[in-house]
Amino acid sequence: MPVITNIADLKRIYERRVPRMFYDYAESGSWTEQTFRENTSDFDQIRLRQRVAVDMTGRNTASQMIGQDVAMPVALAPVGLTGMQHADGEMKAARAAEEFGVPFTLSTMSINSIEDVADYTNKPFWFQLYTMKDTDYVSRLIQRAKDAKCSALVITLDLQILGQRHKDLKNGLSAPPKLTPSTVANLMTKWTWGLQMLRAHRREFGNIVGHVDGISDASSLGAWTAEQFDPSLDWGKVEKLMNEWGGKVILKGILDAEDAKMAAKLGADAIVVSNHGGRQLDGALSSIRVLPEIMDAVGDSVEVHLDSGIRSGQDVLKALALGAKGTYVGRAFVYGLGAMGQAGVTKALEVIHKELDTTMALCGEKNVAGLSRDNLLVPADFGGRWA
Ligand code: GLV
Repeated sequence: MPVITNIADLKRIYERRVPRMFYDYAESGSWTEQTFRENTSDFDQIRLRQRVAVDMTGRNTASQMIGQDVAMPVALAPVGLTGMQHADGEMKAARAAEEFGVPFTLSTMSINSIEDVADYTNKPFWFQLYTMKDTDYVSRLIQRAKDAKCSALVITLDLQILGQRHKDLKNGLSAPPKLTPSTVANLMTKWTWGLQMLRAHRREFGNIVGHVDGISDASSLGAWTAEQFDPSLDWGKVEKLMNEWGGKVILKGILDAEDAKMAAKLGADAIVVSNHGGRQLDGALSSIRVLPEIMDAVGDSVEVHLDSGIRSGQDVLKALALGAKGTYVGRAFVYGLGAMGQAGVTKALEVIHKELDTTMALCGEKNVAGLSRDNLLVPADFGGRWA
């Protein structure tokens, strides 16, 4: 068992174990990948303020996200095709999250279905919704999430059409993988992955296959987003979905102060400041860079969460200190899952927790609620002067 001390260690093992097409899927941003890169490099621009001679006994990272107790304010983000990173990946990740005491968010584009995850776990998870042209299908999906006792609906607003990720097109990304000479050559080097996958509950999009008609290729994410996703999604439709759900709602994909105010006005329980991990509008600002402006715009009127770029507990701390009440990790848990299954997701959470706890202590804080802008050194022009 290798010594894992940080998320990058998990990523190295993940890269060796998982077929290239799924590694590339997770590890890509759209177009030039500028936003994907800046999501992480912008975190590095913020520095931490060291404080000394502060009693650091009795520290605690516990807090709440949308009123739900969390061991630390770090949820698992919805990630498509997680069940291709490891057999039964969504089930394993959900169980790791519930054992750790953080929320798990199941993607509409998951391999394991809503019902698979509900049967395999004991605590409610969150369900992420993409809106489709087929409104009956969307209603059925919402009903399935209600039946599974999901405790929040995460409506993604930034993917009515798919941002182009070059590698996915070149690799012919599909679930399950299509057996071309190059995928076969790569799969031959991933025996453990393949043997585990043979025993998986599912190898296709579990929320879709058997539930939607009229898709030309149900294994292709590109084909089915182009054919099914609703490009006419607007605030009126968002409001209808919120009413149809009737429970807690998180609106994900907010990157602009005006949109944040609109989401708050609709009564969302939280918004996620996000650029979809740099996978949609390449050229958009990083999430951490826009967070202060969004905090100024919405104040306390809505709970603010952040994703895109978090790879460490230090990153979590920076987002919290700038005002976020919660954060999400996507790639960081996927690396752990691909590297060593459920135990790897637990390891990713442990690494982030330890980093958050130790960093908090060295900043002179005992709990996450105490973190504020005071703990940070932010470059004077961090928000930028964009005309
Ligand atoms: C889907 O959510 C994706 O980013 O591929």
